[in-house]
Amino acid sequence: MYRLISLLAVIAPVFFSTAVRADAVAGEKLFGQCAACHQIGEGAKHLYGPSLNGVAGRVAGSKDDYEYSSPFNKAVDAGLEWDYKSLDEFLATPMKFIPGTKMVFPGVRNAEQRLSIIDYLKEFNEKGERTSNIAVVEEPVEVTVIEPRKLALDFEVPDHGVLHLGRAALPEEVAAWDIDIRPDGAGLPAGSGNALEGEELYEINCASCHGSFGEGTGRWPVLAGGGDTLTDERPEKTIGSYWPYLSTVFDYVRRAMPFGNARSLSDDDVYAITAYLLYLNDLAEEDFVLNSENLASIRLPNEENFIADNRLEEKFRTVTEGEVCMTDCLAEAPRVTQRARVLDVTPDGE
Ligand code: HEC
Ligand code: HEC
Repeated sequence: MYRLISLLAVIAPVFFSTAVRADAVAGEKLFGQCAACHQIGEGAKHLYGPSLNGVAGRVAGSKDDYEYSSPFNKAVDAGLEWDYKSLDEFLATPMKFIPGTKMVFPGVRNAEQRLSIIDYLKEFNEKGERTSNIAVVEEPVEVTVIEPRKLALDFEVPDHGVLHLGRAALPEEVAAWDIDIRPDGAGLPAGSGNALEGEELYEINCASCHGSFGEGTGRWPVLAGGGDTLTDERPEKTIGSYWPYLSTVFDYVRRAMPFGNARSLSDDDVYAITAYLLYLNDLAEEDFVLNSENLASIRLPNEENFIADNRLEEKFRTVTEGEVCMTDCLAEAPRVTQRARVLDVTPDGE
Protein backbone atom coordinates (compact mmCIF):
# COMPACT_ATOMS: atom_id res chain seq x y z
CA MET A 1 0.00 0.00 0.00
CA TYR A 2 2.73 2.46 0.91
CA ARG A 3 4.26 1.90 -2.53
CA LEU A 4 1.31 3.73 -3.98
CA ILE A 5 3.12 6.92 -3.31
CA SER A 6 5.21 6.50 -6.44
CA LEU A 7 2.07 6.88 -8.52
CA LEU A 8 0.88 9.94 -6.67
CA ALA A 9 3.95 12.06 -6.63
CA VAL A 10 6.33 13.52 -9.15
CA ILE A 11 9.47 11.49 -8.88
CA ALA A 12 12.88 12.59 -10.06
CA PRO A 13 15.77 10.26 -9.39
CA VAL A 14 18.76 12.23 -8.16
CA PHE A 15 22.19 10.99 -7.14
CA PHE A 16 23.47 12.37 -3.89
CA SER A 17 27.05 11.66 -2.97
CA THR A 18 28.22 12.13 0.60
CA ALA A 19 29.99 15.23 -0.63
CA VAL A 20 26.84 17.11 -1.58
CA ARG A 21 24.71 15.63 1.14
CA ALA A 22 23.44 18.29 3.47
CA ASP A 23 24.94 17.81 6.87
CA ALA A 24 23.70 16.35 10.09
CA VAL A 25 24.28 19.62 11.91
CA ALA A 26 21.52 21.17 9.86
CA GLY A 27 19.52 18.01 10.49
CA GLU A 28 19.80 18.48 14.23
CA LYS A 29 18.17 21.89 13.96
CA LEU A 30 15.51 20.59 11.60
CA PHE A 31 14.73 17.80 14.07
CA GLY A 32 13.04 20.49 16.13
CA GLN A 33 9.86 19.93 14.13
CA CYS A 34 9.89 16.25 15.12
CA ALA A 35 10.71 16.79 18.79
CA ALA A 36 7.12 17.29 19.84
CA CYS A 37 6.55 13.61 19.16
CA HIS A 38 9.99 11.98 19.05
CA GLN A 39 13.06 11.82 21.21
CA ILE A 40 16.48 10.72 20.05
CA GLY A 41 19.82 10.30 21.83
CA GLU A 42 20.75 9.09 25.29
CA GLY A 43 17.79 8.15 27.44
CA ALA A 44 15.30 8.90 24.67
CA LYS A 45 11.80 7.79 25.59
CA HIS A 46 8.73 7.12 23.53
CA LEU A 47 6.45 10.11 23.37
CA TYR A 48 3.46 10.17 21.06
CA GLY A 49 5.88 8.75 18.48
CA PRO A 50 8.51 6.10 19.18
CA SER A 51 12.09 6.86 20.16
CA LEU A 52 14.08 7.16 16.97
CA ASN A 53 17.36 5.73 18.24
CA GLY A 54 18.90 3.41 15.67
CA VAL A 55 15.93 3.84 13.39
CA ALA A 56 17.84 4.34 10.14
CA GLY A 57 19.09 1.20 8.43
CA ARG A 58 16.85 -1.30 10.16
CA VAL A 59 13.38 -2.74 9.74
CA ALA A 60 10.62 -0.34 10.51
CA GLY A 61 8.54 -0.60 13.63
CA SER A 62 11.08 -2.44 15.73
CA LYS A 63 10.46 -0.75 19.07
CA ASP A 64 8.69 -3.60 20.82
CA ASP A 65 7.55 -1.47 23.73
CA TYR A 66 5.86 1.04 21.47
CA GLU A 67 2.39 0.58 20.07
CA TYR A 68 2.41 1.31 16.35
CA SER A 69 -0.79 1.88 14.43
CA SER A 70 -2.19 -1.04 12.48
CA PRO A 71 -1.59 0.54 9.03
CA PHE A 72 2.02 1.01 10.11
CA ASN A 73 2.27 -2.61 11.26
CA LYS A 74 0.86 -3.73 7.92
CA ALA A 75 3.60 -1.86 6.10
CA VAL A 76 6.14 -3.49 8.43
CA ASP A 77 4.69 -6.92 7.67
CA ALA A 78 4.99 -6.15 3.98
CA GLY A 79 8.74 -5.72 4.52
CA LEU A 80 9.24 -2.00 5.10
CA GLU A 81 12.84 -1.18 5.94
CA TRP A 82 14.29 2.19 6.72
CA ASP A 83 17.00 3.22 4.29
CA TYR A 84 17.60 6.57 2.64
CA LYS A 85 15.05 5.99 -0.06
CA SER A 86 12.18 4.81 2.10
CA LEU A 87 12.86 7.35 4.86
CA ASP A 88 12.99 10.07 2.25
CA GLU A 89 9.66 9.06 0.75
CA PHE A 90 8.11 8.62 4.19
CA LEU A 91 9.27 11.97 5.53
CA ALA A 92 8.14 13.78 2.37
CA THR A 93 4.49 12.85 2.90
CA PRO A 94 4.08 10.42 5.82
CA MET A 95 0.31 10.25 5.56
CA LYS A 96 0.42 9.34 1.91
CA PHE A 97 3.28 6.91 2.31
CA ILE A 98 1.39 5.02 5.02
CA PRO A 99 -2.25 6.05 4.78
CA GLY A 100 -3.77 5.94 8.26
CA THR A 101 -0.47 6.27 10.14
CA LYS A 102 -0.49 7.78 13.61
CA MET A 103 2.24 10.16 12.47
CA VAL A 104 -0.10 12.99 11.70
CA PHE A 105 2.49 15.26 10.19
CA PRO A 106 2.32 16.89 6.75
CA GLY A 107 5.93 16.06 5.93
CA VAL A 108 9.12 17.89 5.09
CA ARG A 109 8.71 19.29 1.60
CA ASN A 110 12.29 20.35 1.00
CA ALA A 111 14.35 17.40 -0.31
CA GLU A 112 17.65 18.72 1.01
CA GLN A 113 16.20 19.22 4.46
CA ARG A 114 14.92 15.65 4.46
CA LEU A 115 18.39 14.35 3.68
CA SER A 116 19.87 16.43 6.50
CA ILE A 117 17.34 15.01 8.93
CA ILE A 118 18.05 11.46 7.78
CA ASP A 119 21.78 12.04 8.20
CA TYR A 120 21.11 13.24 11.70
CA LEU A 121 18.95 10.20 12.52
CA LYS A 122 21.72 7.93 11.23
CA GLU A 123 24.17 9.23 13.76
CA PHE A 124 22.37 7.56 16.68
CA ASN A 125 22.71 3.87 17.36
CA GLU A 126 20.17 1.68 19.10
CA LYS A 127 21.50 2.68 22.53
CA GLY A 128 21.24 6.38 21.75
CA GLU A 129 25.02 6.87 21.41
CA ARG A 130 26.02 9.44 18.85
CA THR A 131 28.45 7.79 16.45
CA SER A 132 28.83 10.36 13.78
CA ASN A 133 30.75 8.06 11.45
CA ILE A 134 27.76 5.89 10.56
CA ALA A 135 26.57 8.11 7.74
CA VAL A 136 30.03 8.60 6.28
CA VAL A 137 30.68 4.90 5.71
CA GLU A 138 27.84 4.68 3.31
CA GLU A 139 28.38 4.68 -0.43
CA PRO A 140 26.62 7.32 -2.53
CA VAL A 141 23.04 6.25 -2.96
CA GLU A 142 20.34 6.95 -5.45
CA VAL A 143 17.61 8.83 -3.69
CA THR A 144 14.15 9.37 -4.97
CA VAL A 145 13.33 12.97 -4.36
CA ILE A 146 9.66 13.54 -4.18
CA GLU A 147 8.48 17.02 -4.83
CA PRO A 148 4.92 17.25 -3.59
CA ARG A 149 2.67 19.60 -5.42
CA LYS A 150 3.27 23.20 -4.39
CA LEU A 151 0.65 24.80 -2.22
CA ALA A 152 -0.51 28.38 -2.52
CA LEU A 153 1.34 29.14 0.70
CA ASP A 154 4.64 28.18 -0.92
CA PHE A 155 4.49 31.21 -3.18
CA GLU A 156 5.25 34.72 -2.16
CA VAL A 157 2.33 37.09 -2.51
CA PRO A 158 3.16 39.55 -5.30
CA ASP A 159 2.92 43.13 -4.11
CA HIS A 160 1.45 44.49 -7.34
CA GLY A 161 -2.03 44.98 -8.70
CA VAL A 162 -5.31 44.98 -6.85
CA LEU A 163 -5.68 41.26 -6.32
CA HIS A 164 -1.97 40.52 -5.79
CA LEU A 165 -2.16 37.73 -8.32
CA GLY A 166 0.28 36.62 -11.01
CA ARG A 167 3.10 38.89 -12.15
CA ALA A 168 3.41 41.98 -14.27
CA ALA A 169 3.35 41.18 -18.01
CA LEU A 170 6.71 41.45 -19.77
CA PRO A 171 7.05 44.16 -22.45
CA GLU A 172 7.31 41.49 -25.17
CA GLU A 173 4.13 39.82 -23.89
CA VAL A 174 2.28 43.12 -24.02
CA ALA A 175 3.64 43.73 -27.53
CA ALA A 176 2.35 40.34 -28.70
CA TRP A 177 -1.18 41.31 -27.65
CA ASP A 178 -1.02 44.96 -28.58
CA ILE A 179 -1.62 44.58 -32.31
CA ASP A 180 -4.74 46.65 -32.87
CA ILE A 181 -4.73 49.10 -35.74
CA ARG A 182 -6.70 52.33 -35.81
CA PRO A 183 -8.38 53.91 -38.84
CA ASP A 184 -5.76 56.68 -38.76
CA GLY A 185 -3.05 54.04 -39.29
CA ALA A 186 -1.77 54.01 -35.72
CA GLY A 187 -0.42 50.55 -34.94
CA LEU A 188 0.35 49.57 -38.55
CA PRO A 189 3.53 47.48 -38.84
CA ALA A 190 6.20 48.32 -41.40
CA GLY A 191 5.80 46.50 -44.71
CA SER A 192 4.12 46.49 -48.11
CA GLY A 193 2.67 44.25 -50.79
CA ASN A 194 0.80 44.51 -54.06
CA ALA A 195 -2.41 42.96 -55.28
CA LEU A 196 -0.70 40.57 -57.72
CA GLU A 197 1.38 39.02 -54.97
CA GLY A 198 -1.73 39.07 -52.88
CA GLU A 199 -3.66 37.04 -55.44
CA GLU A 200 -1.18 34.18 -55.17
CA LEU A 201 -1.22 34.24 -51.39
CA TYR A 202 -4.98 34.50 -51.35
CA GLU A 203 -5.40 31.45 -53.60
CA ILE A 204 -3.25 29.38 -51.25
CA ASN A 205 -4.53 30.65 -47.92
CA CYS A 206 -8.02 31.97 -48.36
CA ALA A 207 -9.77 30.80 -51.53
CA SER A 208 -10.73 27.40 -50.13
CA CYS A 209 -13.25 29.14 -47.87
CA HIS A 210 -13.85 32.56 -49.36
CA GLY A 211 -13.81 31.57 -53.06
CA SER A 212 -11.33 32.60 -55.76
CA PHE A 213 -13.06 35.93 -56.30
CA GLY A 214 -14.21 36.52 -52.76
CA GLU A 215 -17.64 35.13 -53.63
CA GLY A 216 -17.55 32.74 -50.64
CA THR A 217 -17.80 28.97 -50.94
CA GLY A 218 -20.65 27.24 -49.16
CA ARG A 219 -21.55 29.32 -46.15
CA TRP A 220 -18.17 31.00 -45.64
CA PRO A 221 -18.31 34.80 -45.69
CA VAL A 222 -18.40 36.68 -49.00
CA LEU A 223 -15.52 39.18 -49.21
CA ALA A 224 -16.31 41.13 -52.37
CA GLY A 225 -19.21 42.77 -54.18
CA GLY A 226 -22.61 43.69 -52.79
CA GLY A 227 -22.04 47.36 -53.58
CA ASP A 228 -25.57 48.29 -54.53
CA THR A 229 -27.42 46.05 -52.09
CA LEU A 230 -27.19 48.01 -48.85
CA THR A 231 -30.76 49.30 -49.06
CA ASP A 232 -32.15 45.87 -49.98
CA GLU A 233 -34.04 43.86 -47.44
CA ARG A 234 -31.13 41.40 -47.39
CA PRO A 235 -28.03 43.49 -48.04
CA GLU A 236 -24.77 41.78 -49.01
CA LYS A 237 -22.46 43.32 -46.45
CA THR A 238 -18.85 42.83 -47.52
CA ILE A 239 -15.58 44.60 -46.91
CA GLY A 240 -16.19 46.64 -50.08
CA SER A 241 -19.89 47.35 -49.68
CA TYR A 242 -20.19 47.83 -45.95
CA TRP A 243 -16.99 48.06 -43.89
CA PRO A 244 -16.06 51.65 -42.98
CA TYR A 245 -12.27 51.32 -42.67
CA LEU A 246 -9.54 49.42 -44.45
CA SER A 247 -7.57 49.31 -41.18
CA THR A 248 -10.16 46.86 -39.87
CA VAL A 249 -9.57 44.55 -42.83
CA PHE A 250 -5.83 44.58 -42.27
CA ASP A 251 -6.21 44.14 -38.51
CA TYR A 252 -8.77 41.34 -38.84
CA VAL A 253 -6.90 39.32 -41.45
CA ARG A 254 -3.61 39.73 -39.59
CA ARG A 255 -5.15 38.75 -36.27
CA ALA A 256 -7.62 36.02 -37.21
CA MET A 257 -7.06 34.63 -40.71
CA PRO A 258 -6.54 32.14 -42.26
CA PHE A 259 -9.21 30.70 -40.02
CA GLY A 260 -7.61 27.95 -37.94
CA ASN A 261 -4.09 29.12 -38.71
CA ALA A 262 -4.18 32.69 -37.49
CA ARG A 263 -0.94 34.72 -37.22
CA SER A 264 0.79 32.50 -39.78
CA LEU A 265 1.17 35.26 -42.40
CA SER A 266 3.96 37.83 -42.45
CA ASP A 267 3.06 41.51 -42.33
CA ASP A 268 4.08 41.89 -46.00
CA ASP A 269 1.72 39.00 -46.86
CA VAL A 270 -1.14 40.75 -45.08
CA TYR A 271 -0.46 44.00 -46.98
CA ALA A 272 -0.47 42.05 -50.25
CA ILE A 273 -3.67 40.17 -49.45
CA THR A 274 -5.39 43.36 -48.29
CA ALA A 275 -4.37 45.00 -51.58
CA TYR A 276 -5.87 42.03 -53.42
CA LEU A 277 -9.11 42.35 -51.43
CA LEU A 278 -9.26 45.99 -52.56
CA TYR A 279 -8.73 44.80 -56.14
CA LEU A 280 -11.52 42.19 -55.83
CA ASN A 281 -13.80 45.00 -54.68
CA ASP A 282 -12.85 47.21 -57.65
CA LEU A 283 -11.14 49.65 -55.31
CA ALA A 284 -7.57 49.25 -56.65
CA GLU A 285 -5.60 48.14 -59.72
CA GLU A 286 -3.77 44.84 -59.67
CA ASP A 287 -0.34 46.49 -59.47
CA PHE A 288 -1.40 48.66 -56.57
CA VAL A 289 1.16 48.60 -53.75
CA LEU A 290 -0.32 48.90 -50.28
CA ASN A 291 2.00 49.87 -47.44
CA SER A 292 2.10 51.34 -43.96
CA GLU A 293 2.30 54.87 -45.43
CA ASN A 294 -0.75 54.86 -47.69
CA LEU A 295 -3.14 52.44 -45.99
CA ALA A 296 -4.84 55.05 -43.81
CA SER A 297 -5.42 57.33 -46.79
CA ILE A 298 -7.59 54.79 -48.62
CA ARG A 299 -11.30 55.41 -48.13
CA LEU A 300 -13.89 52.66 -48.37
CA PRO A 301 -17.17 53.61 -50.10
CA ASN A 302 -19.45 53.17 -47.10
CA GLU A 303 -17.39 55.12 -44.57
CA GLU A 304 -19.56 58.22 -44.66
CA ASN A 305 -22.67 56.27 -43.68
CA PHE A 306 -21.15 55.49 -40.32
CA ILE A 307 -21.52 58.17 -37.71
CA ALA A 308 -19.50 58.67 -34.58
CA ASP A 309 -21.20 57.43 -31.44
CA ASN A 310 -22.24 60.73 -29.86
CA ARG A 311 -24.99 59.53 -27.59
CA LEU A 312 -23.44 61.28 -24.61
CA GLU A 313 -23.39 64.67 -26.37
CA GLU A 314 -26.77 64.53 -28.08
CA LYS A 315 -29.25 67.14 -26.90
CA PHE A 316 -32.10 64.69 -26.49
CA ARG A 317 -29.99 61.89 -25.38
CA THR A 318 -31.18 58.54 -24.20
CA VAL A 319 -29.89 57.85 -20.75
CA THR A 320 -27.43 55.13 -19.96
CA GLU A 321 -28.63 52.29 -17.86
CA GLY A 322 -29.25 53.10 -14.23
CA GLU A 323 -29.12 56.85 -14.81
CA VAL A 324 -32.23 58.92 -14.10
CA CYS A 325 -32.91 61.56 -16.73
CA MET A 326 -33.44 64.98 -15.09
CA THR A 327 -33.20 67.42 -17.99
CA ASP A 328 -33.57 67.40 -21.78
CA CYS A 329 -35.19 64.01 -21.64
CA LEU A 330 -36.94 62.46 -24.59
CA ALA A 331 -40.46 63.86 -24.68
CA GLU A 332 -42.06 60.53 -25.36
CA ALA A 333 -41.09 56.90 -25.28
CA PRO A 334 -38.85 55.93 -28.23
CA ARG A 335 -40.65 54.50 -31.24
CA VAL A 336 -39.60 51.12 -32.60
CA THR A 337 -39.05 51.55 -36.33
CA GLN A 338 -37.67 48.16 -37.29
CA ARG A 339 -37.31 44.74 -35.79
CA ALA A 340 -34.43 42.34 -35.97
CA ARG A 341 -36.86 39.76 -37.36
CA VAL A 342 -36.73 41.59 -40.68
CA LEU A 343 -33.08 40.66 -40.94
CA ASP A 344 -33.99 37.10 -39.98
CA VAL A 345 -31.71 36.96 -36.95
CA THR A 346 -34.55 36.08 -34.60
CA PRO A 347 -35.73 32.48 -34.88
CA ASP A 348 -39.35 31.97 -35.92
CA GLY A 349 -41.93 31.15 -33.25
CA GLU A 350 -44.39 32.80 -30.92
C1 HEC B 1 2.64 14.73 15.40
C2 HEC B 1 3.65 13.83 15.95
C3 HEC B 1 4.80 13.46 15.05
C4 HEC B 1 5.68 14.31 14.43
C5 HEC B 1 5.68 15.84 14.43
C6 HEC B 1 6.62 13.46 13.76
N1 HEC B 1 6.33 12.15 13.97
FE1 HEC B 1 7.37 10.56 13.30
N2 HEC B 1 6.03 9.31 14.09
C7 HEC B 1 4.96 9.68 14.86
C8 HEC B 1 4.19 8.52 15.20
C9 HEC B 1 2.91 8.52 16.04
C10 HEC B 1 4.86 7.42 14.62
C11 HEC B 1 4.37 5.98 14.61
C12 HEC B 1 3.60 5.78 13.32
C13 HEC B 1 2.50 4.76 13.36
O1 HEC B 1 2.47 3.93 14.26
O2 HEC B 1 1.64 4.82 12.45
C14 HEC B 1 6.00 7.95 13.94
C15 HEC B 1 6.93 7.18 13.24
C16 HEC B 1 8.09 7.66 12.73
C17 HEC B 1 9.13 6.86 12.19
C18 HEC B 1 9.14 5.34 12.09
C19 HEC B 1 9.68 4.82 13.42
C20 HEC B 1 9.90 3.34 13.48
O3 HEC B 1 10.07 2.87 14.59
O4 HEC B 1 9.87 2.69 12.44
C21 HEC B 1 10.12 7.70 11.80
C22 HEC B 1 11.42 7.33 11.15
C23 HEC B 1 9.68 9.04 12.10
N3 HEC B 1 8.43 8.97 12.67
C24 HEC B 1 10.42 10.16 11.84
C25 HEC B 1 9.98 11.45 12.07
C26 HEC B 1 10.74 12.62 11.77
C27 HEC B 1 12.16 12.63 11.22
C28 HEC B 1 9.96 13.68 12.06
C29 HEC B 1 10.28 15.15 11.86
C30 HEC B 1 10.67 15.56 10.54
C31 HEC B 1 8.72 13.16 12.59
N4 HEC B 1 8.77 11.80 12.57
C32 HEC B 1 7.68 13.97 13.04
C33 HEC B 1 4.62 10.97 15.23
C34 HEC B 1 5.22 12.12 14.76
C1 HEC C 1 -10.99 27.54 -43.14
C2 HEC C 1 -11.81 28.57 -43.71
C3 HEC C 1 -11.23 29.96 -43.85
C4 HEC C 1 -10.03 30.35 -44.41
C5 HEC C 1 -8.99 29.43 -45.04
C6 HEC C 1 -9.99 31.77 -44.34
N1 HEC C 1 -11.11 32.25 -43.73
FE1 HEC C 1 -11.61 34.21 -43.52
N2 HEC C 1 -13.28 33.67 -42.52
C7 HEC C 1 -13.64 32.38 -42.22
C8 HEC C 1 -14.77 32.40 -41.31
C9 HEC C 1 -15.45 31.19 -40.70
C10 HEC C 1 -15.07 33.76 -41.07
C11 HEC C 1 -16.15 34.33 -40.16
C12 HEC C 1 -15.57 34.35 -38.76
C13 HEC C 1 -16.54 34.95 -37.78
O1 HEC C 1 -17.48 35.63 -38.14
O2 HEC C 1 -16.26 34.75 -36.57
C14 HEC C 1 -14.13 34.52 -41.87
C15 HEC C 1 -14.15 35.90 -41.95
C16 HEC C 1 -13.29 36.61 -42.72
C17 HEC C 1 -13.38 38.04 -42.93
C18 HEC C 1 -14.47 38.93 -42.38
C19 HEC C 1 -15.63 38.85 -43.34
C20 HEC C 1 -16.85 39.63 -42.88
O3 HEC C 1 -17.46 40.28 -43.70
O4 HEC C 1 -17.18 39.57 -41.68
C21 HEC C 1 -12.34 38.40 -43.72
C22 HEC C 1 -12.00 39.79 -44.20
C23 HEC C 1 -11.58 37.20 -44.00
N3 HEC C 1 -12.18 36.13 -43.37
C24 HEC C 1 -10.43 37.14 -44.76
C25 HEC C 1 -9.69 36.00 -44.95
C26 HEC C 1 -8.43 35.99 -45.61
C27 HEC C 1 -7.74 37.19 -46.21
C28 HEC C 1 -7.98 34.70 -45.59
C29 HEC C 1 -6.66 34.17 -46.10
C30 HEC C 1 -5.49 34.78 -45.53
C31 HEC C 1 -9.00 33.91 -44.97
N4 HEC C 1 -10.01 34.74 -44.55
C32 HEC C 1 -8.94 32.54 -44.81
C33 HEC C 1 -13.09 31.23 -42.73
C34 HEC C 1 -11.87 31.19 -43.41
